[in-house]
Amino acid sequence: MDMTISQVDPAFKKDVLHCFEQQSYAIPARWLYDRRGSELFEEITELSEYYPTRTETQLLESYSAEVAEISGAGRAVIEFGSGSSVKTPHVLRAVQPAAYVPIDISGEFLAASAAQLQTEFPELPIYPLEADFMRRLNLPDEVSGMPKLGFFPGSTIGNMIARTSVDLLRFMRETLGTGSQLLIGFDRIKDADILVDAYDDSAGVTAQFSLNLLHRINRELCGNIPVDQFRHIAVWNDLYARIEIYLEALSDVRFAIDNSRFTMTEGQKIHIENSHKYGLRDARLMLRAGGWSPVREWSDEKNYFSLVLAEAHPFKNAP
Ligand code: AVI
Repeated sequence: MDMTISQVDPAFKKDVLHCFEQQSYAIPARWLYDRRGSELFEEITELSEYYPTRTETQLLESYSAEVAEISGAGRAVIEFGSGSSVKTPHVLRAVQPAAYVPIDISGEFLAASAAQLQTEFPELPIYPLEADFMRRLNLPDEVSGMPKLGFFPGSTIGNMIARTSVDLLRFMRETLGTGSQLLIGFDRIKDADILVDAYDDSAGVTAQFSLNLLHRINRELCGNIPVDQFRHIAVWNDLYARIEIYLEALSDVRFAIDNSRFTMTEGQKIHIENSHKYGLRDARLMLRAGGWSPVREWSDEKNYFSLVLAEAHPFKNAP
């Protein structure tokens, strides 16, 4: 797809040029999700090695009724980063919300998935909100008087470093208000081999997902990076409890982006993603740091993935 320069997000250009000009060799993971990247991510979720999506979906199938028992009917469900909203029907069916607000930065995705859900739930008032949920948001007026249940599945929180995760949880609390609840998915710490396989699958789909970032730079920023001279690597960093994803140069390379010239030497790596994993106590502490009190947790038999329901209790003076 050819893009005129005016369609290019200036923040993308800034982040990419910063990576090579300042030699930080890191690009924020959010730029992985152009149209092609989003399609490849959907493919990842169906891979046998990528257990998070199916494990979380099974947890939602099994336990949404228990969530509903605790949260009660009539809340507005607010989904952060709804994307294609595939897991949402389980929750909506169980909790019988008064309204549903899917929030996503991509208006295109949002409209399509809201329309799809509307056919499945014809009576449910749906108010899509095109916004960046990494900041405090104003929810639609229609849901202002309703108690809220936030929904943040997929262990998307894992793609943020700890400081950013806690900021996000605090923004969510401000957006949803005291008394609201949050149902959030956490990917658990497990054998490094299982984790590495999940992020470096045998069919090479995750590698394509990573390398698409270089194709995107070439497409949108007039680049000529020799993509075949890079490879995708996934490594487990035990100290930080995260999978780190890099693109490594296979030889000395020269390329241009937006008329600026750059070189990388063989073996040099660009850091493009982190995916943090959590023990249950880590998840609880992070929620509490963000102003949320854990109420109930559900995990699969192998403890691969957990759903946590938390509540925004009124703040009290701590002793
Ligand atoms: C979206 N996010 C939760 C995925 C993850 O597991 O960290 C992104 C991903 N990157 C490579 N595979 C999946």
